[in-house]
Amino acid sequence: MTIIVTGGAGFIGSNFIYHMLEKYPDYRIVCADCLTYAGNLSTLKGALENLSFRFCKINICDREAVYRLFEEEHPDMVVNFAAESHVDRSIEEPEVFLDTNIKGTAVMMDACRKYGIERFHQVSTDEVYGDLPLDRPDLFFTEKTPIHTSSPYSSSKAAADLLALSYHRTYGLPVTISRCSNNYGPYHFPEKLIPLMIANALADKPLPVYGEGINVRDWLYVEDHCKAIDLIIHRGKAGEVYNIGGHNEMRNIDIVKMICKELGKPESLITYVTDRKGHDMRYAIDPAKIHRELGWLPETKFEDGIKKTIQWYLENREWWQEIISGEYKGYYERMYKNR
Ligand code: NAD
Ligand code: TYD
Repeated sequence: MTIIVTGGAGFIGSNFIYHMLEKYPDYRIVCADCLTYAGNLSTLKGALENLSFRFCKINICDREAVYRLFEEEHPDMVVNFAAESHVDRSIEEPEVFLDTNIKGTAVMMDACRKYGIERFHQVSTDEVYGDLPLDRPDLFFTEKTPIHTSSPYSSSKAAADLLALSYHRTYGLPVTISRCSNNYGPYHFPEKLIPLMIANALADKPLPVYGEGINVRDWLYVEDHCKAIDLIIHRGKAGEVYNIGGHNEMRNIDIVKMICKELGKPESLITYVTDRKGHDMRYAIDPAKIHRELGWLPETKFEDGIKKTIQWYLENREWWQEIISGEYKGYYERMYKNR
């Protein structure tokens, strides 16, 4: 079995690669990643030593390079993680989101059509459903919830989902889609909420909470997401969408306070800053389908996962300090200076 994993030098893709290499030593795993600001080869250091693993620096929008890779590798499956993934960046500069998230997905699926494939899996997000009101805790996103996006990021992901389903119906491509809630864990890029707050708190820098900090996200430990995708690509049904989430809703402010407590830092570091434009209020996944059909359940409780994550950032300072000392510095200043 040969699997092409796109975006494998990023947060979730790299965790998925480590999961697959460990669980299926006889599989060949090929990572296709063009190493944007969010992709980091040092993240894959452990995998690069493994003979079952190959890294290819490829942009998924580059049709020729993608077709060449298919001719070399004859993959049985593709798991498409590659994406521009940060809402704040999509608000500043939407175009690259359309290129990678929509066109790149189409190129990967065209290659699958041309060369044949057992499964194309599209890694999507709960953000395609838009948001839920804070005063209706009884409401959850199911796979039947209409698509209703808020940001250029979520719109580009929704477009890719629709395209994937159309390739299934029109060309019979064996596509599955997973829509997961917010992930956290090792190798999370330090511009996202949890790693950013850990890094800033450790440096005694202000902790920038958008608006009042009452927006709710449904957090899932990244390993649980990887296990869900593993189940879907092996046992999921082509043409189906699977929601993934752990019924673990938290307000941003409560997460930031938890991180302060865990690191022994004062809550006075918390600084309320101008809200994100179009900021989604609440995400909440109903994961009943994947539980019922594939037996998936999240294994890591948030209280344990957040401790493990903080510990990982403490033990792997080199990894994230190198990132925040590079071009990320300019991004941070642009994004937070006048907020
Ligand atoms: P990430 O930003 O950490 O990593 C993205 C990776 O894709 C990077 O390695 C980057 O170099 C690569 N990439 C970007 N553009 C590329 C291109 N044109 N060609 C090849 N490689 C390219 O993202 P992540 O948080 O790991 O998210 C992975 C996927 O999961 C995305 O599709 C995202 O929409 C989805 N998702 C993320 C979350 C989350 O909480 N992070 C939740 C649900 C779904
Ligand atoms: P983020 O990690 O960017 O994920 P997403 O927007 O995809 O859910 O943000 C999670 C939540 O944290 C979101 O409500 C925005 C908020 N947030 C802050 O309050 N401050 C920050 O500096 C960042 C990056 C996010």
